[in-house]
Amino acid sequence: MDKRPSSMKRIKNKKQAQSFINKQIKEIQKQVKDEKVLLALSGGVDSSVVAALLIKAIGKNLVCVHVNHGLLRLGEPEQVVSVFKKNMGANLIYVDASKTFLKELKGVADPEKKRKIIGKVFIDVFVKQAKRLKNIKYLAQGTIYPDIVESKGVKAHHNVGGLPKDLSFELVEPIKYLYKDEVRIVGEALGLPKDMVYRQPFPGPGLGVRCLGAITKDRLDALKKADAIVREEIEKLKVKPWQYFCVIPDYKSTGVKNGKRYMGWSAIIRAVNTKDAVTAKSYEIPYKTLYTIRDRIIKEVPGINRILWDYSNKPNSTIEWE
Ligand code: XMP
Repeated sequence: MDKRPSSMKRIKNKKQAQSFINKQIKEIQKQVKDEKVLLALSGGVDSSVVAALLIKAIGKNLVCVHVNHGLLRLGEPEQVVSVFKKNMGANLIYVDASKTFLKELKGVADPEKKRKIIGKVFIDVFVKQAKRLKNIKYLAQGTIYPDIVESKGVKAHHNVGGLPKDLSFELVEPIKYLYKDEVRIVGEALGLPKDMVYRQPFPGPGLGVRCLGAITKDRLDALKKADAIVREEIEKLKVKPWQYFCVIPDYKSTGVKNGKRYMGWSAIIRAVNTKDAVTAKSYEIPYKTLYTIRDRIIKEVPGINRILWDYSNKPNSTIEWE
């Protein structure tokens, strides 16, 4: 296993982060010289920090590809483009592949099949872009230390899996010895917005595992709006839970509007606290917040007529529904 050097002190403050950044900039410049580097920029903390670091080190020689699979949260693709392209001057290719993803996922209800399709289409779209951009020797990745440790026994290292063999890149992994808390301090020191740096974990298959069963565009749109309300209201709390989101199952129940029956979806609210996601405790959402979320979703999100709160722990439930 690639081990974190014992001489490496834990990064706890901005000054230490700055000295890490300066050292990495030199090492990146030494490694890649005048060559171009490709990075799949998801907008998650790790790839965003790598992007910011590489922009400082090699500027326009970093080519970021942001694949919008249509399963991102409300406002997320726009935030990535705005922060990286407009504010940081990144060389960013934005690919809206949401229609392709929805087409491939059409009618597929099995959670594992959905995950596999999302993973495969993602790689296909990314590889197509990589092949279009000729003469790229380097691929940057937001691998962090827990990815390396976990890939030893618990689960496959997801960052490198999946790329076809004929794409032989040399890897650039500047944060591979950092723990998550250190990545965040470095991100702040690089000038990334706080809400990007401290954002809650978000699964790779995105809202695809929260729009239960076979995904439809109208239910996915409702989920994006309901999820944005859950996030907005929970983020007003002094102490935020570790993860909080909304789920919409693929069934309708009876509701009433203007004295008439109407069938609508349910929105399920989930908030958990955990250390490592292996076990998790349901977070006690204050009733006032629950009521505000309920009233806002019913008023603002067409198609939803029922609000449920999932207060299960892990085990027996998992954090995600699929
Ligand atoms: P579960 O549902 O297994 O989730 O209790 C544990 C944590 O992992 C996240 N998660 C994923 N992250 N790709 C990811 O990158 C995935 O396929 C995936 N599935 C679950 C989940 O959000 C939770 O934080």
